[in-house]
Amino acid sequence: MQILVTGGTGYIGSHTVVELQNKGYEVVIVDNLSNSQIEVLDNIEKISGIRPAFEQFDLSERDLTDAFFQKYSGISAIIHFAAFKAVGESVSKSLEYYRNNLVSLMNLLEGMKKYKIPNMVFSSSCTVYGQPDVLPVTEETPRKEAESPYGNTKAICEDIMRDYCKSHEEDINCIALRYFNPIGAHETGLIGELPVGVPNNLVPFITQTAAGLRDELSIFGEDYDTPDGTAIRDYINVVDLAQAHVVAIDRMLTKKSKANYEYFNVGTGEGYSVMQLVKAFIEVTGVDLKYKVVERRAGDIEKIWADTSFGNAELGWKAQKSLEETLASAWKWEKKVRGL
Ligand code: NAD
Ligand code: WQD
Repeated sequence: MQILVTGGTGYIGSHTVVELQNKGYEVVIVDNLSNSQIEVLDNIEKISGIRPAFEQFDLSERDLTDAFFQKYSGISAIIHFAAFKAVGESVSKSLEYYRNNLVSLMNLLEGMKKYKIPNMVFSSSCTVYGQPDVLPVTEETPRKEAESPYGNTKAICEDIMRDYCKSHEEDINCIALRYFNPIGAHETGLIGELPVGVPNNLVPFITQTAAGLRDELSIFGEDYDTPDGTAIRDYINVVDLAQAHVVAIDRMLTKKSKANYEYFNVGTGEGYSVMQLVKAFIEVTGVDLKYKVVERRAGDIEKIWADTSFGNAELGWKAQKSLEETLASAWKWEKKVRGL
């Protein structure tokens, strides 16, 4: 079975490629390397023993996407990771975000119909819930208006899939996975998250500070309505998340989907505060991490975590890894990258 993984040299994509290969799937990656490096292929090969096929082009180019499908005729399913994902940047570059994220999806959906590839798993995000009124969030929790153009691309992509699936009941199947906060790295330390420039996300900022690249972590706000005043998220290990994709692919290929458009929360079901995470990192790694509390970050929500019961039951999947081992994996990866 050949699976197309778009964005497969990126953070979550690379871990998913390895998990697919571990399950015997053959993978072809499409990535334009706008936010990843070609060397990731070497490290995937080191872990799995198999070098995935790779094509470098921009999926928002319709003709190139069509030519790709003509060349690869044996694809059974697509996992679509490729997208721009920086929330702040999406505000100043909104058109680029809408073009890249929406057009790439539409080109793939068009190719699925034309080349008879029925199945797609799509990377959505808990960002579609905004700050929910009731916690934890289930799949029934209403989506809220997006806080950023990036978040809006995820909501619109979900709507595009829903509408397209409605008119293609016979030949198109999509599953959107709404990830909570993916963190950590592969246990080998060979693949992980490598942000360009100053990291926006908490864990890369922590590991870079621990590695000496940044002076100090700023904790954004301690006056939230949470037990210790810092914001709460549901941090999911990236390998657990990768395995959820394999399970979603299996579900579609074995025709277990209950509708041809489905969506699931993918989190752990546990919320941790920023302060809890920082303390866990210090305890697990023994690193004396410097941090200070500063003002809230604009646009941040106070707290969110998933109700995973529907996804766990339907997919037969549950996050396994502890926060501690996940933070240890993130630190192992950072040290390897920095030669420490
Ligand atoms: P990433 O940037 O590491 O990976 C995305 C990959 O897609 C990159 O390798 C990039 O080069 C490639 N890409 C982007 N646009 C492309 C295009 N037009 N054509 C071909 N390749 C293209 O990001 P990630 O963290 O692995 O995220 C993967 C997906 O998961 C994204 O859709 C993202 O929005 C979504 N997501 C991520 C998070 C997170 O916190 N990391 C949370 C929720 C959802
Ligand atoms: C986590 C917590 C920060 C950095 C973003 C996107 C979301 C999704 C996941 C894609 C927050 C705090 C952070 C720092 C801090 N991505 N923090 N100091 O904001 O939950 O979600 O990534 O879909 O759409 O918005 O993740 O890692 O940026 O922040 O105190 O230097 O850590 O305020 O409470 P976030 P994050």
